[in-house]
Amino acid sequence: MNNQQADIVIVGSLNMDLVIRAKRMPRPGETLAGDTFTTVPGGKGANQAVAAARLGASVAMIGCVGDDAYGERLRAGLMVESIDCRAVTTLSSVSTGVASIVVDEQSQNAILIVAGANGELTPGLLEQFDNVLDSARIVICQLEVPVPTVHHALTRARQLGKTVILNPAPAVGPLPADWYPLIDYLVPNETEAQALTGIVVDSPQAAEQAAHMLREAGARNVIVTLGERGVLKVGEEGCGHWPAPVVKALDSTAAGDTFVGGFAAALAAGQSEGDALRFAQAAAALSVTRAGAQPSIPTYVEVKEFAWNEKDSPAQH
Ligand code: RIB
Repeated sequence: MNNQQADIVIVGSLNMDLVIRAKRMPRPGETLAGDTFTTVPGGKGANQAVAAARLGASVAMIGCVGDDAYGERLRAGLMVESIDCRAVTTLSSVSTGVASIVVDEQSQNAILIVAGANGELTPGLLEQFDNVLDSARIVICQLEVPVPTVHHALTRARQLGKTVILNPAPAVGPLPADWYPLIDYLVPNETEAQALTGIVVDSPQAAEQAAHMLREAGARNVIVTLGERGVLKVGEEGCGHWPAPVVKALDSTAAGDTFVGGFAAALAAGQSEGDALRFAQAAAALSVTRAGAQPSIPTYVEVKEFAWNEKDSPAQH
């Protein structure tokens, strides 16, 4: 029997981001002086949890941290957002996941991750939190925890009748064929869509081709995020392209996570898909104007107050 207590459950990673801002990326073999260094709460799963919570949803997180200062800080950060962390397990045998991030003056980033405790979220551990998985209407996964765990989460969420969202990040190549029918919303960026399909996704037209291919594979809806070129969605009712708001970008870290969390929060609040996409785009656009992962994620009120003077309807093609 369903014991619904949250709108959204996230199965995913928590990382401490070790962020250096520099004029440019170092080349292989080069030592370069950076400008600033900060430690910032991140991890795709935790970022999506924070986004969904700040943007209006009640959220539970399933994940793992190490028994160390980073783990404590990550957990505390989620709890400040009123995220249910009862299924965030602290493990003494391994350190908290970290991400080494360089952000350059063009606001581009390069990220290296070490999974640490995220790699210990096994299907067996996830099974212990089946009641948490069953406590919400929407389940979101990414690919920073072990692949068998993601498969288990998608399978179980489908069995339980949840709305299933997969953000296939980071890009790891094609997904097993039996994953696609489990997914209601597959949300890759251009790089991830290319890794999934082999199609070079360098335009909205190429994104549409890739999205059709992924839908034919079995995903119910495919939303390709195209950065400043907006988002492209292919679903049962056809294809739509939503242009992005124009903003001055400072740091794109967690923009995709903000989009995913915002989209899910808007769906949980009963918004139509189109309204949810626009809400998520506004949230992601605001996030790129600020530095860092979780600190950059806007609140519901900030998104509602964001003046976005673009056309209200998607360009259909
Ligand atoms: O999507 C951004 C995130 O990717 C960062 O917060 C970093 O932790 C990596 O997981």
